[in-house]
Amino acid sequence: MKQSETAIRKQADRRSFLKNSLTASAATVGVGLLSNGLSALGADHGDGITEGDAAILRFLAAAEILETDLWVQYTELAGQDAPASGYKTGLIQLDGDMPQYISDNTDDELSHELFINAYLKSKGAKPVDLDPFRTLEGSQVTDIPGVASRKRLTNLMQLSVDTSWWVRYRSSDKNPDLGDTFPNAVPTLAAGKFTAIPRNNAELEIGNTIVPVDTHVQAIANTAGFHFAFIEQGGTSLYASLAQRVSNVEVLRIVLSIGGTEIMHFQTWHDKAGNAIPLTDGALVFPDLTADIPQPETLQSNLIMPEPTVFLSKKFPACSIIRPTATKGVAMGAVKALTADGLFIGQTPDFFEFLSDLAEEADEARREI
Ligand SMILES: [Fe+2]
Ligand SMILES: [Fe+2]
Repeated sequence: MKQSETAIRKQADRRSFLKNSLTASAATVGVGLLSNGLSALGADHGDGITEGDAAILRFLAAAEILETDLWVQYTELAGQDAPASGYKTGLIQLDGDMPQYISDNTDDELSHELFINAYLKSKGAKPVDLDPFRTLEGSQVTDIPGVASRKRLTNLMQLSVDTSWWVRYRSSDKNPDLGDTFPNAVPTLAAGKFTAIPRNNAELEIGNTIVPVDTHVQAIANTAGFHFAFIEQGGTSLYASLAQRVSNVEVLRIVLSIGGTEIMHFQTWHDKAGNAIPLTDGALVFPDLTADIPQPETLQSNLIMPEPTVFLSKKFPACSIIRPTATKGVAMGAVKALTADGLFIGQTPDFFEFLSDLAEEADEARREI
């Protein structure tokens, strides 16, 4: 235990990044080259990556590990292989294919995590391991074996889900990159702390396939539906933003190719969230966002394609784009957004330090040509 704590502190030391980002075999290239960072190593090997590229990939690996962790929790409780339950039935109200989509999104995140870490290793850079921080208690459901005993990196039980992305993608004259802000589509969901997974057997309702499910259970499923899209819109912007700091063309290919699947995830979840069942569960109110009731375009549920809006400058015509894509401080911004989401409630100071260090290093990366 003591040994692993020491290891975490060592990893968390920002100053040691350069030293630690090289494996023993890469370090044998020589101290002279190391003083110039990985770019010197790249030049020497002909296929290396810059220090900045490694930092970007390391932050993305961490983000993917966190994504995998949260998606695994959703899969265990409502994925394709999860047993029937009120929670799963509640999610199926958003779309009959929800369990399949949940399982597939989980597979994708795991593949991203494993690929990026393997690629880092192949370039002599250190992969990211968050296992020392896997300490959180998750759902205490016992009607699905194994769920309650597993330790988690992320907390899905006290979420404050930001739904301003809903309005942001429907705006025709505003862009967060130009300083604009957007109201929440589901204001109460952002204002309180709500669970997106059943915390116990009562909230799971094992075996229940009768519609409508209990209002509280449907509220948990609705919360998950909006959380899915919140997570994936974040990934959509993160990859597009960090791509602009990448130097090596192959690393750019990785960032664009993986980033594209985050966009596909977001688009899918964006469509499904609009089917959340209107309800009131205590302080939590899900409004009816369906298109057939009169409401402003900024809320209309079937407007799931990005509305063309101002891009780069108001002097250009409106353009249909993902947003935001500004690069400044984007990795740290992602850490802050996930923290505000409540995803890390219960995590240790060492975890925040480690993640912040990775974000800082990624944000310091500059494109080198
Ligand atoms: Fe991913
Ligand atoms: Fe994702």
